[in-house]
Amino acid sequence: MNAEIQILNKESTSTVTNSKKFYIESYGCQMNFADSEVVASIVSKEGYDSTKNLNDADLILLNTCSIRDKAEQTVRKRLEGFNKLKRNNKNLKVGVLGCMAERLKNKFLEEEKIVDLVVGPDAYKDLPNLIKEVNEGRNAVNVILSKDETYGDISPIRLSSNGVTAFVSITRGCDNMCSFCVVPFTRGRERSRDPKSILEEIKTLVDKNYKEVTLLGQNVDSYLWYGGGLKKDFKKISELRQKTSINFSKLLKLVAETFPLLRVRFSTSNPQDMGLNVIVTMSKYKNICNHIHLPVQSGSNSVLKAMNRQHTREEYLSLVKKIKQIIPDCSISQDMITGFPNETDKDHELTLELMCKVKYDFGYMFKYSERPGTFAAKKYDDNISELIKKNRLQEIVDLQQKHSNHRTNEYIGKIVEVLIEKESKKSSNQWSGRNQQNTVVVFNKEIYKIGDFVKVLINNCTSATLIGEAVGYSNK
Ligand code: 5AD
Ligand code: SF4
Repeated sequence: MNAEIQILNKESTSTVTNSKKFYIESYGCQMNFADSEVVASIVSKEGYDSTKNLNDADLILLNTCSIRDKAEQTVRKRLEGFNKLKRNNKNLKVGVLGCMAERLKNKFLEEEKIVDLVVGPDAYKDLPNLIKEVNEGRNAVNVILSKDETYGDISPIRLSSNGVTAFVSITRGCDNMCSFCVVPFTRGRERSRDPKSILEEIKTLVDKNYKEVTLLGQNVDSYLWYGGGLKKDFKKISELRQKTSINFSKLLKLVAETFPLLRVRFSTSNPQDMGLNVIVTMSKYKNICNHIHLPVQSGSNSVLKAMNRQHTREEYLSLVKKIKQIIPDCSISQDMITGFPNETDKDHELTLELMCKVKYDFGYMFKYSERPGTFAAKKYDDNISELIKKNRLQEIVDLQQKHSNHRTNEYIGKIVEVLIEKESKKSSNQWSGRNQQNTVVVFNKEIYKIGDFVKVLINNCTSATLIGEAVGYSNK
């Protein structure tokens, strides 16, 4: 290892200056971005410093996403671009991490000659061995999925952080088996992280002056800690252990009470797992943000059934009603898929109708993309034409835009609490932050600074942004 070690003083920290450099790029969900911070921590200990400049890198890592075909194509194109870099630097190694690595396994090495290293989402602790292998000239692959790996003992290195907000993962994997989704195959069975290590990670962030955390998981509401182990084995343990277990509502309470000055967010919630206890806990703690990302995917019961979603349209709408009853100013966002196999015009109408009932604050909408190996790929014909998928998508995007506009307009004349995160992209005289409901707010900088909680009076808006003026510090 070519690391140069400089001891600064006796007790404290030593600064390790490594001569090798790694470059990491993340695609897909927030979970992947959080994982890259775990990877950065592991790789740094192997004598690599992180670099933001591709040309400086000895090791390029792409943390990939398989959720839709387009995400995979983006990664393949990116890999093509590395050919020239590799020609210029014979020692450069290229690694593929994440969901695509897990899905394609050894095939990746055959299909993309540029790749030296393939590592699945549960195998990052093996990176030291794998990097050694590739540096000795051999290709290396580890795509073993784990029943208990949560990386709870790794202290992530915050990459491109604003120093104010951070992601903290609390569960990994997913047991839901929605028929369209590749995640259960690429990220394995669902498991929860020890609350002690979650609180420790948050404490480290708070000590560094971070002001907001987002608790992350494919399905946070199904968080369950009973001393380790898979969620599906919970029923097999003793009653006493079941009683002392920690579910998501208890975890939220624990985080909110331990760090009363910290803003707490979470994502993603699955309708069938979101209990009343979570909503009540949210309503009790001022520092838990009033926003729920609550994907529905479709407004039609027959499509929901074919998707193997564990909720009906009626159950979903009744959950939304409960949320609004208990937390009237709670924002709700959606994920939606159009053109699922056999989706009829009527099914599509039902989706539009459901959207009109909920009037989501914002949403993420996608055309169905068949994923190899999933139940839907095996059982259903991808029989909705590209044109129909495209037209339906446009309709729901347009409707969402209308609803987002409606929602942002509701804030005009109101005062919201904003945590300042960064300078506004449009003007260097303005700050950009988010309110509790996760809507971006911009306002003139005045005396305020990044990391401040500020009360902002909203006087204008677009469908995605609130524009206002600061009227004082929030009493945090
Ligand atoms: N095709 C299109 N969208 C998908 N999603 C997941 N799998 C697919 C797929 N095969 C969407 C869902 C999910 C979000 C993360 O991605 O809406 O909630
Ligand atoms: Fe995929 Fe469904 Fe799990 Fe979300 S809940 S990750 S859509 S299987």
